[in-house]
Amino acid sequence: MSRSALRIAVVGATGAVGETLLALFSERQLAFDALSLVASARSAGRTIVARGETYQVEALERFDFSGIDLAFFSAGSAVSLQWARAAAKQGALVIDNTSAFRMDPRTPLVVPQVNGDLLRRRPEDGIVANPNCATIPVVRALAPLDRRYGVRKIVVSTYQAASGAGLTGMEELRSGARASLSEERVEPSSGRFKVPLAFNVVPSIDVMQGSGFTLEEQKIVQESRKILGRDDLLVSATAVRVPVFNGHSEAVYFECEAPLDRAEIVEILRGAPEIVVHDGEGAAGFPTPRFLPDPDRVHVGRIRVVPDNPHAGWLWLVTDNLRIGAALNALQIAEMAIAHDLL
Ligand SMILES: NC(=O)c1ccc[n+]([C@@H]2O[C@H](COP(=O)([O-])OP(=O)(O)OC[C@H]3O[C@@H](n4cnc5c(N)ncnc54)[C@H](OP(=O)(O)O)[C@@H]3O)[C@@H](O)[C@H]2O)c1
Repeated sequence: MSRSALRIAVVGATGAVGETLLALFSERQLAFDALSLVASARSAGRTIVARGETYQVEALERFDFSGIDLAFFSAGSAVSLQWARAAAKQGALVIDNTSAFRMDPRTPLVVPQVNGDLLRRRPEDGIVANPNCATIPVVRALAPLDRRYGVRKIVVSTYQAASGAGLTGMEELRSGARASLSEERVEPSSGRFKVPLAFNVVPSIDVMQGSGFTLEEQKIVQESRKILGRDDLLVSATAVRVPVFNGHSEAVYFECEAPLDRAEIVEILRGAPEIVVHDGEGAAGFPTPRFLPDPDRVHVGRIRVVPDNPHAGWLWLVTDNLRIGAALNALQIAEMAIAHDLL
C-alpha cells in the first residue's frame, strides 16, 4: 500500500493522548488519505481541526472499521476490550494505548527503539500494544545498558504528572491549585487522584492489588520484563503522582552482572537512539519536567555509580508522557508498520 492511500481512525480523539497524536500527525507529516476521529457519543458532532482540515467527531458505537487500515485506540481499557478486536477483525491494524492487551502472549508490546524488530510481521490478531508511560523510559534507557552490563535488578520510583490521568486530571490539578492559592478550603476528594493533588504528592496510581502494589506498579514490572525479553529480571516500583501538569520523572536504581563505568554509561546513553544525556554542572546535570528542551526525546541525568557497590547505579529520567509515553511511541509503531508494509 502506498502511504498516501492510508485510512486512519483515532479512537479517543478528544482526549489528552488523542489530541497529542493529532498534533504529531502534522509535526511528523504522516501522509494519509482519510482520517476519522472517534470518541464517545458525548462528543459526536463536535468539530476538530487536524492538519489544517476540519473533522466531525463520530461516536464509536456507530463507527464502521471496515474501511480503516490503521486504528489508534486511546479511550481506556474497557473501550479497547470491547471494540479493538472487532476493529482488527474488520481489517484494521490496531495500535492500542491502553493496558487491555499488553500482557497477552499473542500481542507484541513494542517500543520501536528497543524491540521494533517485532514489527517485521503483522501480529496474528492484528493488535500491537503500546506500553505504559512509566515503563517506556525505563526500557529505553536500560536496554543498551543491559546489553553491555547485564542488568539483573531494577528499582523504580516515579514522579508522575497529572496529564497521565488525562484532560480531567490536568483540570483537577489546575482548579485545585487555584482553590489552594485563593485559600479556599480544599476538602479531601474522591476525584481523579483520590486526594487533592495540588501542593501534594500521592503514592497511589491506579487500583490497589492484593499484593499491596498498585496496578501502575505492577505494569512497570511485567511490561519491562516482556519488552526486554527478560523473565528473570528483578523489578520493583513505587508509583507516585506529583503536582506537575505534564512530564513524568523517574529515579531508577539498577544492579548489573558486570561492574559499571560511569564515563562508559554516559557514552552508551549518548549513542542510544533519541536519548539526551544531561551531564553538565549544576542544573545542566539533570532534566526537569517543566523545562524539557525536546519533548520527543528521553532525557537522562544524575548518572551515578554507587561508591560502595560498583555493580549498582542510578539514573534520573524525564519524559513527556503524552508523547514518548503514549502518542509518539504509538506513531513510531505506525511508521515502522508502514515501512515494513504491514498494512
Ligand atoms: N495520559 C497519558 O499520559 C497516557 C499515557 C499512556 C497511555 N494512556 C492511556 O490512553 C487512554 C486515554 O488516555 P487520555 O489521557 O487521553 O484520557 P482522556 O484525556 O480522559 O481522554 C479519554 C478519551 O477516551 C474517549 N472515551 C471515553 N469513553 C469512551 C467510550 N465509551 N467510547 C468512546 N470513546 C470514549 C473520550 O471521549 P469523550 O471526550 O467523548 O469522553 C476521550 O477522547 C487511557 O487508556 C490511558 O490509560 C494515557
